[in-house]
Amino acid sequence: MDLMIRGKRALVTGSSRGIGRAIALSLADFKVDVAINYLRQRTLAEDTAAEIEARGARALVVKGNVAKPEHVHRMFEQISAAWGGLDFLVSNAASGVIRPAVELSLHHFHWTMDINAGALLPLVQEFIKLPPDTGKVVVAVSSLGAVRAIPNYMAVGASKAALESMVRHLAAELGPDGVRVNAVSAGTVDTDALRFFPNRDQILQTARERTPAGRVLDPQDVANVVVFLCTDFASMIHGQTLVVDGGYSILA
Ligand SMILES: NC(=O)c1ccc[n+]([C@@H]2O[C@H](COP(=O)([O-])OP(=O)(O)OC[C@H]3O[C@@H](n4cnc5c(N)ncnc54)[C@H](OP(=O)(O)O)[C@@H]3O)[C@@H](O)[C@H]2O)c1
Repeated sequence: MDLMIRGKRALVTGSSRGIGRAIALSLADFKVDVAINYLRQRTLAEDTAAEIEARGARALVVKGNVAKPEHVHRMFEQISAAWGGLDFLVSNAASGVIRPAVELSLHHFHWTMDINAGALLPLVQEFIKLPPDTGKVVVAVSSLGAVRAIPNYMAVGASKAALESMVRHLAAELGPDGVRVNAVSAGTVDTDALRFFPNRDQILQTARERTPAGRVLDPQDVANVVVFLCTDFASMIHGQTLVVDGGYSILA
C-alpha cells in the first residue's frame, strides 16, 4: 500500500514503548524517518530505533522531558541538525497522577497538565519554525477521559480535555499556513500506563465485556489512525478528535 508519505520525517514523543512505539514503527513501515523521544529508558528507545532502521527508514533518538521547553528546544536542534526539517509531529508522551480528586494536590494537577497539555505549545512552536513551510501535520494523542468521568483520572482527564481544545485552536490558527492539527482519542490499551491504576484488572475486564468491536484495543489500532491522519487522504480533517475505541464510548 502506498500512502504517499515515503521520505517524510516525523517526531513521535514518548515512542520508546507503548502506543508511541507502535506509531513510530507504523510510520517506518511506510518509510517515514522517525525521531524517537523518550525521558528515562534509553535502551527501549534504542530498541525502537533499531526496529525503525530494520524497516528501511532513518531513526534518531532524542532524549528530553516534553514538559520542559528548553528540552523541547534542544530536541528540535538535534532534529534540525540531522535532517534539516520535519514533516509530522506526533505528540504522544503522557504521564500523570492517578488518584481520587480529593487526594490530588495542585502540584500533581499542574505537573500532569504540563506534560499532557502544556507540552503541545513549545512542541508546535518549534515544529513550525522548521522547513517545510507548508504541508505539515500535527497529531496529538488523547483519551476518552477528556469527555468522560473515569475513577482516579481527574488530572489526566482535565489535561486531555485541554489538549483537545488546544488542537482545535491550533488547527484554526495554523490551517491557513498549511499546518493540519488533529487528535486521536483512544479507548483502553493494555500498556505500562495501566500499571498505575489501582483498578487495572477491572478496567481491562470492563473494556473486554463492553467494547462493541468485541476486543480490547491494541497499540496498532491507534497507530493506524495516526498514520492515516498524517496522509493527504485526511487533508480536509482539521481540528478534530477521532475516537478509536471499538465503539466503547457510544454505549450508555
Ligand atoms: N494506555 C491507554 O489505555 C491509553 C488510552 C488512551 C490514550 N492513551 C494515550 O496514549 C499515549 C501513550 O500512552 P501509553 O499507554 O503508550 O503510555 P506508556 O506506555 O506509559 O509510555 C509513555 C511514553 O511516554 C514517555 N514519556 C513519559 N513522560 C514523558 C515526558 N515528560 N517527556 C518525554 N517522554 C515522556 C515514556 O518514556 P520513558 O520510557 O523514557 O519513560 C514512554 O515512551 C498517551 O498520550 C496516553 O495518554 C493511552
